[in-house]
Amino acid sequence: MNDSPDTPVTVIGLGRMGQALAGAFLKAGHPTTVWNRTTSKADKLVAEGARLAPTVGDALRAGSLTVICVTDYRAMHELLAASDIELDGTMLINLTSGDSAQAREAARWAEQHGAHYLDGAIMAIPPAIGTAEAVILHSGPRPDFEAHRPTLDALGTVTYLGADHGLASLYDVAGLAMMWSVLNAWLQGTALLRTAGVDAATYAPFAQQIAAGVAEWLPGYAEQIDAGSFPAEVSALETDARAMTHLIEQSEAVGVNAELPRLIKTMADRSIAAGHGGEQYPVLIEEFGIPGDH
Ligand SMILES: NC(=O)c1ccc[n+]([C@@H]2O[C@H](COP(=O)([O-])OP(=O)(O)OC[C@H]3O[C@@H](n4cnc5c(N)ncnc54)[C@H](OP(=O)(O)O)[C@@H]3O)[C@@H](O)[C@H]2O)c1
Repeated sequence: MNDSPDTPVTVIGLGRMGQALAGAFLKAGHPTTVWNRTTSKADKLVAEGARLAPTVGDALRAGSLTVICVTDYRAMHELLAASDIELDGTMLINLTSGDSAQAREAARWAEQHGAHYLDGAIMAIPPAIGTAEAVILHSGPRPDFEAHRPTLDALGTVTYLGADHGLASLYDVAGLAMMWSVLNAWLQGTALLRTAGVDAATYAPFAQQIAAGVAEWLPGYAEQIDAGSFPAEVSALETDARAMTHLIEQSEAVGVNAELPRLIKTMADRSIAAGHGGEQYPVLIEEFGIPGDH
């Protein structure tokens, strides 16, 4: 049966993120039971209408679904391992950050104990929870996600990725890779321009335009990777490698750290040495350890 607006929910873990999650459920009108190791962190939520459960076991029994959000998987296993806990038939949605192996192992463990289990990843900061800006990824059995989606919608933009419980964590770290790469590239450019007296705020809109332009290339490049074929339609890797030399030399000449461009050039050089200089940039996927078939 699908959830309705008055579906009771439980939130276990009331750190910065757990408090935001419980607050969003309360705001959406769900009867909300909470539990936290340090009970004082429930005070504000209790004042807003939440019920503080005396034990984890009691908290789990109160909700049609239980969202867990603690520091790490170890903490989650510790608190669910308490002897009074009956997991049979419960719906657990674990929004604790971790890696894909931890997610799959937690799913096996939960299912062995008779629980339904979805793993999730929150790609947002606590103040965004409850708004469309908060992207929350889920993976695991689709029927479990669909049944509880109306309730999970209270938390933000909820997305289902697939049956493999590891997917939410993988998308999470893939997003981090994208975020830090874009930020570090921007910092490199900002450092270069500051040597000529251009401040960060002046460069930012220009950098934003470049990042958006490069993002446009991704679907076409993805087709090349999936096909394992990298014809140099717009540029060959050896042309990119020459431009990388300019970036390195320019950085060194003005005293800007060139470690990142050197690392990128090392990968490109390896690929060129392996005979891929005449192919297009995404051929570098092979440097990331994914076996290609070309
Ligand atoms: N904050 C963010 O911006 C953000 C964004 C995305 C994802 N996340 C993820 O959300 C999760 C929680 O983050 P947070 O910011 O809420 O962290 P936090 O403020 O440090 O809270 C940690 C929570 O874990 C509980 N905990 C830790 N060890 C425990 C144990 N052994 N037994 C029982 N409870 C334990 C803490 O209980 P006590 O209160 O008793 O210490 C607290 O409720 C993390 O996996 C984090 O990566 C956070």
